[in-house]
Amino acid sequence: VDDHKPAGFEDNDQHPVGHGRMLRKEDPRFVRGRGNYVDDVQLPGMLHLAILRAPVAHARLVGIDTTAAEAHPKVKAVVTGATLESLNLAWMPTLSNDVQAVLVTDKVRFQGQEVAFVVAEDRYSARDALELIEVEYDLLDPVVDVRRALEEGAPVIRDDIEGKTDNHCFDWETGDAAATEAVFAQADVVVEQDIVYPRVHPAPMETCGAVADFDPVEGRLTLWSTTQAPHAHRTLYAIVAGLPEHKIRVISPDIGGGFGNKVPIYPGYVCAVVGSIVTGKPVKWMEDRSENLVSTGFARDYVMRGEIAATRDGRILGIRTHVIADHGAFNGTAAPVKYPAGFFGVFTGSYDLEAAYCHMTAVYTNKAPGGVAYACSFRITEAVYLVERIVDCLAAELGMDPVRLRLKNFIKPEQFPYTTKTGWVYDSGNYEPTMREAMRLAGYEELRREQAEKRARGELMGIGVSFFTEAVGAGPRKHMDILGLGMADGCELRVHPTGKAVVRLSVQSQGQGHETTFAQIVGEELGIPPADVDVVHGDTDNTPFGLGTYGSRSTPVSGAAAALVARKVRDKARIVASGMLEVSADDLVWEKGAFHVAGDPSAAVTIQDIAMRAHGAGDLPEGYEGALEAQITYNPPNLTYPHGAYICVVDVDPGTAQVKVRRFVAVDDCGTRINPMIIEGQIHGGLTDGVGMALMEIIAFDEDGNCLGGSLMDYLLPTAVEVPDWETGFTVTPSPHHPIGAKGVGESATVGSPPAIVNAVVDALAPFGVRHADMPLTPSRVWDAMRGQARPP
Ligand code: CDP
Repeated sequence: VDDHKPAGFEDNDQHPVGHGRMLRKEDPRFVRGRGNYVDDVQLPGMLHLAILRAPVAHARLVGIDTTAAEAHPKVKAVVTGATLESLNLAWMPTLSNDVQAVLVTDKVRFQGQEVAFVVAEDRYSARDALELIEVEYDLLDPVVDVRRALEEGAPVIRDDIEGKTDNHCFDWETGDAAATEAVFAQADVVVEQDIVYPRVHPAPMETCGAVADFDPVEGRLTLWSTTQAPHAHRTLYAIVAGLPEHKIRVISPDIGGGFGNKVPIYPGYVCAVVGSIVTGKPVKWMEDRSENLVSTGFARDYVMRGEIAATRDGRILGIRTHVIADHGAFNGTAAPVKYPAGFFGVFTGSYDLEAAYCHMTAVYTNKAPGGVAYACSFRITEAVYLVERIVDCLAAELGMDPVRLRLKNFIKPEQFPYTTKTGWVYDSGNYEPTMREAMRLAGYEELRREQAEKRARGELMGIGVSFFTEAVGAGPRKHMDILGLGMADGCELRVHPTGKAVVRLSVQSQGQGHETTFAQIVGEELGIPPADVDVVHGDTDNTPFGLGTYGSRSTPVSGAAAALVARKVRDKARIVASGMLEVSADDLVWEKGAFHVAGDPSAAVTIQDIAMRAHGAGDLPEGYEGALEAQITYNPPNLTYPHGAYICVVDVDPGTAQVKVRRFVAVDDCGTRINPMIIEGQIHGGLTDGVGMALMEIIAFDEDGNCLGGSLMDYLLPTAVEVPDWETGFTVTPSPHHPIGAKGVGESATVGSPPAIVNAVVDALAPFGVRHADMPLTPSRVWDAMRGQARPP
């Protein structure tokens, strides 16, 4: 393999978007162990930081004795909340305008909360010294059950907030309550169902960590950290620490998976910075697996009541829902400010309704903070699960095939752009062909026949369907910001004299293959082979400002920026070419990689010729300014709305209640497809996530607030053993407002697969009269459901 020209690039140099199976440019580095992760960073004199965490969920801090730890021969510093308080650094803002303790000063609010930290010469000594710290706690009753958090007399968790007398976090509503009530009052059929989306964890392979290097002479901070949003983090550090922003450099090197877990700023990052300031040395902090699972951003944790109203012949009229949202001890949700419930407002799904309404109450509990967008565009996973489950409940009530019910109610292609009853404007969609393609690939009718035969023999085969519309690419500045920072993305492109290029992005890959796909976008627009386009990201000193990668926003926002910046450079190249060919710029025709004179294709100059000329001797034509480079900031006019149809086939063992996912068909529509192989990888990963959430994963707590999912022995992640050979297909409905018609895809499969799997299991259990069972559908939960004893998690 030639590192400089990865295999697969040659054939597609002139038309790289969507063609062939272009291999990933970054893979030679990864498969040879040459990736550079935060834990690979080694600096001279670097010290190591370890965090002491609370063993209990709710307790007043009576005292901390650090004397013995400080006496450890290899310990350089021991820092407590009191030290931070003196520096005015004990509390930090969360991404949701709440505050979170960096280290406990008054009381512990969740098990695993940061209480103190030690900086030592090596990782082992730092850990050893933690055991020498004596902490006295005065135990308080914990609030664990979200349904009881607002009860009279419940212990108040956030007594740090002045005047707070309960555990209420926020209320939110969307849609039209009165119109929905009217529709429900007149409907032939109304179905209600309590549906829980349990707390789960993104569990990236690489845990969170940082290396902080503060230079006291220059007053400069360099921070290598596992962040999905380096620029936004830098601004927050500047605000919290009072350091000038231009003296902070955040580097996000190779990231071993983010899935939303690396969006928030965690106390550990701030501790590493403080550790470097107090010791005058670089300080590394890497959390272990249990710390990651117990203390960092969880996801979901919505207790939902879904209601659906329809006519007897299956026309869906309205959907209504009430949600209790568990936000943990601090509101650490990462969502645009105006959207405290993220994009949950798309709970109306892919259906043309007359009315919809949602009311949500969010509460504090004694659990880790979060509500992060785990492979999900801000709570869309919860919304899609709700609607796709409740539609199946309706199908069961009506005795109607769930595919037929969906086909009957889809928004029609001519209705796009379609404004939902909760105010979202779906840009484009053509749902029926996607559903029919999934049915074709699955052999849907044949599967139903097989199921009927098996049922007659007492075998439990289930077929589950889901259809989703996602809203990705946050977002238009006029609606969306995170802590006041608008969600636009910058992009810079520079073409060197020899025609090689470098594109600088504000988004940050965590494994999605941006180094390849962004090179393809630029290559497509500029006619430069993708192998000749270097992609730079994840370094605030070397990339333009932007809000980072989560919620599948890279392609919709930064992907658009990359296409437009390349077009801007092409416009400049046209001026240079007009001078070279001695014709007016208007008389030039662009064809992949070259301008030629209209009517005379032989009079042509390639982009490489133009690049050399643009840097060469002699004057350039009038109108050409600067170098062959450009910069833009892209403010998306709307989100993009990918969709997909999923069909899952399961077999349930009647003796053990074990669920086996036998087949899974996923047909996705993400508009223009940039790299089919990468898309397929994204889908495979998301589907695997879906199997985990549907069947295995839950972060549960006992009544004392002890986290029961603190290791991968307890928090079960799916492997190749649990998943089938994925069967994928696609349709293409371009986004009308994206320059190349692309929509995001990274999270589609995580969003769409859990309801397909649960619908399949419930379908398998239909002979037992089961209409719903909550995730994760472990054998014990399925067993209970078969015996009519299904219970919420
Ligand atoms: O923001 P994030 O990268 O997680 O999600 P995304 O924008 O959906 O992109 C995930 C990966 O799929 C990136 O490498 C994209 O360039 C690629 N992709 C693609 O090839 N074609 C699309 N229409 C959408 C994404």
